[in-house]
Amino acid sequence: MRLIKLLANLGYGSRKEVQKYIRMGIVTDAEGNVLKDDAKTAHEDIRFNERPLDPAHGVVLMLNKPTGYVCSLKDTGKLVYELLPHRFSERKPVLSTVGRLDSETSGLLLFTDDGDYLHRIISPKNHVAKIYEVTLARPLEGHEAAIFASGELMLESEKTPLKPATMEQTGEKTARLTLYEGRYHQVRRMFAAVGNHVEALHRAQMGDLTLGDLRPGKWRLLTASERDGLLQG
Ligand code: URA
Repeated sequence: MRLIKLLANLGYGSRKEVQKYIRMGIVTDAEGNVLKDDAKTAHEDIRFNERPLDPAHGVVLMLNKPTGYVCSLKDTGKLVYELLPHRFSERKPVLSTVGRLDSETSGLLLFTDDGDYLHRIISPKNHVAKIYEVTLARPLEGHEAAIFASGELMLESEKTPLKPATMEQTGEKTARLTLYEGRYHQVRRMFAAVGNHVEALHRAQMGDLTLGDLRPGKWRLLTASERDGLLQG
């Protein structure tokens, strides 16, 4: 790919702006040699203002989403993209969230520009577990886990019942819920269906992937083994 197109697709500027940067000589190889548009330099050896380029197409990253941020590229409130470098929201192909978390849900949120990977992660067929920590308004009654595990729970305005989900009670009003699908407001609607109300919701894990020591509002790239490991869960 020509350098102008590569840099524009990574969000470094419009083609015109990027062309100007190349003429200014701020796009170089690792040794500092100025590159022209037709350079055949490998992605990892290109420098922009002396810094390595953002990751190439096929990137997967995770964010520890704080509450109060919306999973959208355009919305009125605060957007999860504001927590990433500005360039990331200008990338082509677009860097999408892998599914969504509600504005008031915190925790593990993945982003990728690889549409095929995204669909494999969210498809219930691939059985990638999504694990949520739930805090409820009222004490659990004891019947919830069996209802969620039944594979028969039908949410309002849905045409098919929910797939079996596992609930483990962790306190009087707290639980860990493992889902293999991601319907609209699913956790909140599940607890509403059993007469409770979700007060706080946090996604702690997807497959074997946890947030580790990633603090709220921070992001990091996934390693290749983390990325592939998610599909083998
Ligand atoms: N279920 C919900 O209700 N909200 C989320 O953000 C994720 C799962």
